[in-house]
Amino acid sequence: MGVEKIILDMRDKRLLSYVLKTAVDIDLFEVVGNDNLTLEDINGRYNYDKPMLEAFLDTLCATGFLEKVESEYRIPTNERRFLLKSSEDYKLGVVGVTFTYDHLSELEKRLESSENIIEHDGNEWQAVTNATKRFVNPFMSLVKDGKIGNIKGAWIDVGTGQGSYLLALAAYETDFKGLGLDTCYEVVQSARENSKDYVGEDLSDRVRFSTEDFMQIDGIDYDTVMFNNVFHVVGYDVANNFLMKSQEFAERVIIQEIHKKGYENPIAFLADLNFRMSLPNGRVFWKDEIESLVKESGFTKIETMHLPTDSKGIYLTVGCKE
Ligand SMILES: C[S@@+](CC[C@H](N)C(=O)[O-])C[C@H]1O[C@@H](n2cnc3c(N)ncnc32)[C@H](O)[C@@H]1O
Repeated sequence: MGVEKIILDMRDKRLLSYVLKTAVDIDLFEVVGNDNLTLEDINGRYNYDKPMLEAFLDTLCATGFLEKVESEYRIPTNERRFLLKSSEDYKLGVVGVTFTYDHLSELEKRLESSENIIEHDGNEWQAVTNATKRFVNPFMSLVKDGKIGNIKGAWIDVGTGQGSYLLALAAYETDFKGLGLDTCYEVVQSARENSKDYVGEDLSDRVRFSTEDFMQIDGIDYDTVMFNNVFHVVGYDVANNFLMKSQEFAERVIIQEIHKKGYENPIAFLADLNFRMSLPNGRVFWKDEIESLVKESGFTKIETMHLPTDSKGIYLTVGCKE
């Protein structure tokens, strides 16, 4: 077995051992027991961040520790004797649980298939990746309530994904122009397609998408730079460079991020771990860290607000020059 494979195996097993340890720590298998329970039933016991709990339960399903039948979770009948404390065969008390490659590839497949989904819910386009699609409409509700100020003008959206935020803004405000940047060619192509038919409207004359590097952009004509769910991907140093560059020309920066503090439950650990382990420079930020970065880059008026979703950990930080 090559060294690379050993290292990757260790990473995957460590990740899964945290998933399982979290389940044991919160006594999940005892809570589910021999029952079939919905997400709401289970969360009734914990009152955690619901989407995060759902992702956690689905990960346990993908690894065979739970199964989901319609909308109910249960422990697979054949596995109950290993997972429930009342059984003589109970195994969770032992250290060194092993995971098979089948479990891992199933998890990978599940994660892959959840990427880059675009949905129309009948009223509005939902955003782009599965992880962030539920955040565009709450973001727009803050915009519509005037919480982030004037939206007219020209915006750059760095790490735009499939462009949903810019397109939602352009559809709402006609005096709006956007440039969406993303290093991933496929998502830029898809963003361009979306701009030609955004809920029946062609917005491609006002919203442009490109794979150009933000650090090389001549920003003179842009008022606002937005980073939605990007800092945790690029890490601290790049986030810092991005903000310094924004400060050279923009009047305002807008950052949407998942903040560690918002979770306040064991599953936060999982999210943090997931990010850090799957992305070379990725990390989860504290709310105060984002505010300090924004301040140090030269934006003096800073406000952080909670994004109105049932995810407790998502915040929008707006930094302006006085
Ligand atoms: C988690 S996605 C967020 C997409 C979108 N902003 C949203 O909130 O739905 C992060 C995006 O950042 C892009 N990205 C990563 N590093 C980047 C960089 N240095 N410059 C521009 N985009 C980058 C990735 O390709 C990915 O599409």
